[in-house]
Amino acid sequence: MNPIRKVAVIVGSLRKESINRKLALAIARLAPAGWQFDSLAIDELPLYNQDHDAAMPAQAAQFKQRVEAADALLFATPEYNRSIPGVLKNALDVGSRPYGKNSFANKPAGVVGASVGAVGTAAAQQHLRNILAYLDVPTLGQPEVFIHFTEGLIGDHGEISRPETEAFLQAWVGRYVAWVDRHAATSRSAP
Ligand code: FNR
Repeated sequence: MNPIRKVAVIVGSLRKESINRKLALAIARLAPAGWQFDSLAIDELPLYNQDHDAAMPAQAAQFKQRVEAADALLFATPEYNRSIPGVLKNALDVGSRPYGKNSFANKPAGVVGASVGAVGTAAAQQHLRNILAYLDVPTLGQPEVFIHFTEGLIGDHGEISRPETEAFLQAWVGRYVAWVDRHAATSRSAP
């Protein structure tokens, strides 16, 4: 029997109708049995303040625990002004501290994004990958997922209306799942 894998999903948008949340749901629907995708709320995280490192606010501590409990991460981010939204950067800062207690370290991550613009979050994802590299988070390189979102492409529950997009995301999920599994096997055998 395949092991259960827990994926912590972090969506970089607070919007109710977020197309990136829909994209994350679509990916979760395409995952094999035994894979659990749990969305981590980032809207109630306090703004990161180094003064609070010694006694983290409860929401920050909970967020860090949920990241640490996950086998893997999935980031689905919008692009804001050619970078990642501030709320996502805040979540990364909160989860990375205090110094020496980076909750993200060594968690394999997928990075995806959807935009109404033609570039499909490429610039934001590049910035995100830089930050994740510094946080010691290995990211799946290929294929890149830059979704140019058109009306109705993905429904509220992650149902995909365009067969080509579904096939592309299904192939991506296959790569992601195999890569996380490989990572888990390597981590187990590491000294
Ligand atoms: C945007 N949007 C946008 N799109 C893009 O492709 N490149 C960009 O740099 C920006 N910049 C940007 C800044 C701000 C402040 C907003 C509110 C929006 C448009 C963006 O792709 C669109 O609003 C998406 O719907 C945002 O994703 P969610 O919130 O639906 O997941």
